[in-house]
Amino acid sequence: SSVNVFARTTPSAGVGDIKGTLTEAHKKFKGLKEGKNADYIPALAKVPSELFGIALVTVDGKVYTEGDIEKLFAIESISKVFTLSQVLQESGEKQITDTVGVDATGDVFNSIVAVEKNKGKEMNPFVNPGAIATTSMVKGKNADEIWNKIVSIHSAFAGRPLELNEEVYKSEAATNQRNQAIGKLMEAYEIIKTNPEQATDIYTKQCSINVNAKDLATMAATLANGGFNPVTKTKVIDQKHVKSVLAVMSTAGLYDTTGQWLFKTGLPAKSGVGGGVIAVVPGKFGIAAFSPRLDEAGNSVRAQRAIEFITEKLNANPY
Ligand code: DON
Repeated sequence: SSVNVFARTTPSAGVGDIKGTLTEAHKKFKGLKEGKNADYIPALAKVPSELFGIALVTVDGKVYTEGDIEKLFAIESISKVFTLSQVLQESGEKQITDTVGVDATGDVFNSIVAVEKNKGKEMNPFVNPGAIATTSMVKGKNADEIWNKIVSIHSAFAGRPLELNEEVYKSEAATNQRNQAIGKLMEAYEIIKTNPEQATDIYTKQCSINVNAKDLATMAATLANGGFNPVTKTKVIDQKHVKSVLAVMSTAGLYDTTGQWLFKTGLPAKSGVGGGVIAVVPGKFGIAAFSPRLDEAGNSVRAQRAIEFITEKLNANPY
């Protein structure tokens, strides 16, 4: 049996149902042991694998949570959504479509073959080459200024000041030779104009921003609400850019398994190897789940299952 997601028009009926659905999802999937923590970034291998949190924030600012909701973890690739938002807001959509593009690669997120096939183009801002290039497009006179802008937009989406996870940053910076090579290659193809080392470093930092599931759900809800944070009641990006961000999430949010995800849920979403997944139901709510064990594509197993289940229960698939 499914329930009505229009909680804002029927608040008393909606509240219990949403909370109950999160509780049910948590109970259903907390025993799932499939997958494993990311270990190519040593600090991520140490995060307790049993952590599991789910949060849902509606476009009228109601917050529902279940499980490990305060626990902070590295945002990783989910940051690509918000740095893309910054570039769209600052430079417009052609800045992206004329450079890294907005097409799925069908390859893993750190594929070098994908760069070679199209000379750094016809990819998207969510695979590492496109993401490092997107970070390089944030304007600023030095690395600090660019970094501060990136943290600020993440914080505005989340509705509170977010901070760097120093341990994850150091761990990833010491082991990101592949991303450094990708940055250089994107410079060779003239998609990154200058200083690929700086772009890769700032990209590594943005991936190490600490969030909890509630932060991520608020970030997703801001996208569901046309770029206006429903909790803090502040505009973060223009509504016209939200559709561009959601389009890339729909085609590339879960990498080479995005098709399977869209088939099951119909929702624009984004994963990170820290174990977070966000999904957006435009005009209704944002949802996030966190649990460290990942599938082969690098997406949290429990987070995907929980969001799929909740989407189904709340009749939230727009198709
Ligand atoms: O660049 C990396 O490999 C990580 N900082 C982020 C990768 C990631 O989260 C892919 N996601 N599912």
